[in-house]
Amino acid sequence: MRVISCKNYEQMSKIAAGFIKTLVQAKPEAVLGLATGSTPEGLYKELVSAYQNGELDFSQVHTVNLDEYEGLGPQHEQSYRYFMNDKLFKHINVKEENTYVPDGLAKNIEAMLADYEALIDSFGGVDLQLLGLGHDGHIGFNEPCDHFEQKTHRVKLNSITLEANKRFFANIDEVPKYAYTQGIGSIMKAKQIVMIVSGADKKEILHKVLYGPVCPEVPASILQFHKNVIVIADEKALA
Ligand code: F6R
Repeated sequence: MRVISCKNYEQMSKIAAGFIKTLVQAKPEAVLGLATGSTPEGLYKELVSAYQNGELDFSQVHTVNLDEYEGLGPQHEQSYRYFMNDKLFKHINVKEENTYVPDGLAKNIEAMLADYEALIDSFGGVDLQLLGLGHDGHIGFNEPCDHFEQKTHRVKLNSITLEANKRFFANIDEVPKYAYTQGIGSIMKAKQIVMIVSGADKKEILHKVLYGPVCPEVPASILQFHKNVIVIADEKALA
């Protein structure tokens, strides 16, 4: 794993956006694996600026998101589809039909999950997967457990994640209890992984991810086994 230490959140966002810019400029038909949450917001602003300045063209790009809450549709402001439209897609020239987020309202959940995994496979794995890091070590919504989940699946969110995500809802009871997420195996299919981490509240878990044993109790520790991972973190997270 390569670790890039940044002064602060802004520098982290710029450097991480730089990796996506370089990829899209070199490969206009790139497949980007994207994440939601607070951490990538600055990076998405950088990409929007680069598009507005004429540095980037997303017309051939495909995007595949990591996860979605069960029961939330695209119109729900806390759905991850809404987040992606709001923070990135509606500001750039990516084609809507080339953007993929698991369907939070799927009736046939098993079929939706299998189709999502097949989609990732149809690309031969995404070119670059962007990841944030949960306080409990999750990537996507792969919560700590006793095994690494291979494929896109339904997951019960744990109390740490519900607590962390309640800031976006009226109260903790409003946070969906289940989600759909790419598995650890799906994420590991990516050709390159860029994980961004910011803030002192992530420093203990980041230390475990980088230097601890590889184990499903710290899902992101599996990244130690991927051959092309760049962790871009600010000084507080790396303290
Ligand atoms: C979101 C996702 C999650 C977040 C993680 C960190 O699509 O996959 O794993 O990256 O929960 O969230 P923030 O950035 O809000 O701290």
